[in-house]
Amino acid sequence: MNSGVENIRRLKKRISKGKRSISSRRWLERQINDPFSIAASEGIYRSRSAYKLIELNNKFKLFKKGDNVLDLGSSPGGWSQVVSKLISSSKHGNLVAIDIKKMELINGVHFINGDIKDEKVINLIKKRFINVDVVISDMAPNSIGHKSTDQIRSQILSEKAFEVACIFLKNNGNFCCKIITGGEITSFVNILKYNFQYVKRYKPVSSRKDSAEIFLVGLNYRQDVVE
Ligand SMILES: C[S@@+](CC[C@H](N)C(=O)[O-])C[C@H]1O[C@@H](n2cnc3c(N)ncnc32)[C@H](O)[C@@H]1O
Repeated sequence: MNSGVENIRRLKKRISKGKRSISSRRWLERQINDPFSIAASEGIYRSRSAYKLIELNNKFKLFKKGDNVLDLGSSPGGWSQVVSKLISSSKHGNLVAIDIKKMELINGVHFINGDIKDEKVINLIKKRFINVDVVISDMAPNSIGHKSTDQIRSQILSEKAFEVACIFLKNNGNFCCKIITGGEITSFVNILKYNFQYVKRYKPVSSRKDSAEIFLVGLNYRQDVVE
């Protein structure tokens, strides 16, 4: 029996057993009915988020073999697993992953355990490479359950990801970051439009409908733009 089926059985048992709060019951039911949670539980990727990046790459062709990639907010490692497969070649692409939380090793991925807002982390990346083809960010703050605060904190991280992209991206490089909608994101999108030839907001099918997250994609970074 595969582990995905076992996991669903275990979840169903948890629902039928004992008293549960409405929200915990809802969470369990959602896991059982969600094909991406089922796929993630089958252990191919470490996170459900991996499927969002696969969709984003199918649509926008973010990566190619041999690319240098920065993965911001990488733990537990689903996006890094997806990227390392896409960039690996005889030439070997370089993937540097960063997170405040620890991440289990992935072959060919250089992991930095730290906060992207910390200058020391930026210097550690610089030691590894300075010319990056793609910067991706799935960074998310710990939710405090207050919508507008969570939105602002998410936007700060997305803007930080763009700042980091401006340090490392090659001319014509690509960028993709998660952002929580609901606040004033138009000015941020306009800054991206100024710096990339093509900018798109995108909500992957694998992103839960009731989640306010979307992804901003910037293709072909224009290094010559003066800020
Ligand atoms: C949704 S998870 C990323 C999941 C990951 N893409 C995957 O597929 O496994 C968001 C991550 O952002 C990280 N994060 C939040 N703020 C950060 C910061 N300032 N610097 C580095 N990582 C951060 C969190 O620790 C968390 O692990």
